[in-house]
Amino acid sequence: MRIVVTGGAGFIGSNFVRLVLAEHPGDKVVVLDKLTYAGNLDNLRDVSGDPRYSFVKGDICDPEAVDEVAAGADAIVNFAAETHVDRSISGPEDFIRTDVIGTHVLLDAVRARGVARFLQISTDEVYGDIAEGASVETDVLRPSSPYSASKASGELLVLAYRRTYGTPIVMTRSSNNYGPWQYPEKIVPLFVTNALDRQALPIYGDGRNVRDWIYVDDNCRALDLVLREGADGEIYNVGGGNEVANLDLTRGILAELGLGEELVRYVTDRPGHDRRYALDCAKVRALGWEPRVSFAEGLARTVAWYGEHREWWEKIKSGEWRSYYERQYHGLTT
Ligand code: NAD
Ligand code: TYD
Repeated sequence: MRIVVTGGAGFIGSNFVRLVLAEHPGDKVVVLDKLTYAGNLDNLRDVSGDPRYSFVKGDICDPEAVDEVAAGADAIVNFAAETHVDRSISGPEDFIRTDVIGTHVLLDAVRARGVARFLQISTDEVYGDIAEGASVETDVLRPSSPYSASKASGELLVLAYRRTYGTPIVMTRSSNNYGPWQYPEKIVPLFVTNALDRQALPIYGDGRNVRDWIYVDDNCRALDLVLREGADGEIYNVGGGNEVANLDLTRGILAELGLGEELVRYVTDRPGHDRRYALDCAKVRALGWEPRVSFAEGLARTVAWYGEHREWWEKIKSGEWRSYYERQYHGLTT
């Protein structure tokens, strides 16, 4: 199978590319990525010599670039997106462009080139927050942030193409991923790398917001399964089953490093901050998937990985990241 992976130089995409090349010797992978601030070829360095892998720098909003890679593709997996809620609050435009218009450009290419499968990578954030119980795939979407609204808009186009044109799609909504190669703006890599440097850990609000954490390899195995065996037109929730409050997550990271709570700072809450996400994953489990990495094990592996890959994140933190951090956290250090 020749698989086009958009956004393959990002966090989950690069982990997915690695998994496909390792698990499916007959597959070829073409990454299409614009290399925004979040895209990083260092994430793919270890597979760059594999003859089954190739990289194309391009924008999913550019119909010509997309058409070129779609020609001859058996499947397209769309990871490409603007992904950070805080950045969507300070500037939603790029989110609407990539997450909505980019998805539309891809869907048109799938139609025009007769691509047999389109997997849209979506998020549990499209459901909005849920006080009790767990979101199921048929729930109404109530996105809260410009990020989740743009992802929900992309989803609606995917579903409309399925219904109107019979476009062959599947879709996943996964919970918060953590693991190696995650840009240090999301809470786990930000707090781990800050803690390694003995810098402050800025907790929004009261620290009681809950996320369901999934180790990135577990998510990638689910995505690979849905790509190959998911029922046409269906949506699959993918969650790790680990509901953790931000404060407890922070304490877990600090404990891995043998640190106390001296670095913790409570800062102004995120506007519209979703309180809790939780997913019912019976549907993807019925395909034969289950998470393999416990939260304790995943967190230990993740903290160790960032400790062993300083050169990867120090390079990032010396670039665009620094001005973002100044803007977002007003120069918070220790
Ligand atoms: P990321 O921010 O690490 O990477 C995004 C990648 O997309 C980058 O390589 C970037 O260069 C690329 N990109 C952005 N705009 C592009 C464009 N216009 N054209 C081509 N490439 C472009 O993101 P991630 O955390 O790996 O998330 C990947 C996907 O998974 C996203 O669709 C996101 O919404 C979804 N998701 C993420 C999480 C999570 O916890 N990280 C959870 C659920 C769903
Ligand atoms: P984040 O990693 O940005 O993912 P998402 O908003 O997509 O869930 O945030 C995860 C949780 O951590 C969320 O409740 C916001 C909180 N958070 C902080 O408390 N401080 C921070 O500096 C960041 C980035 C997030």
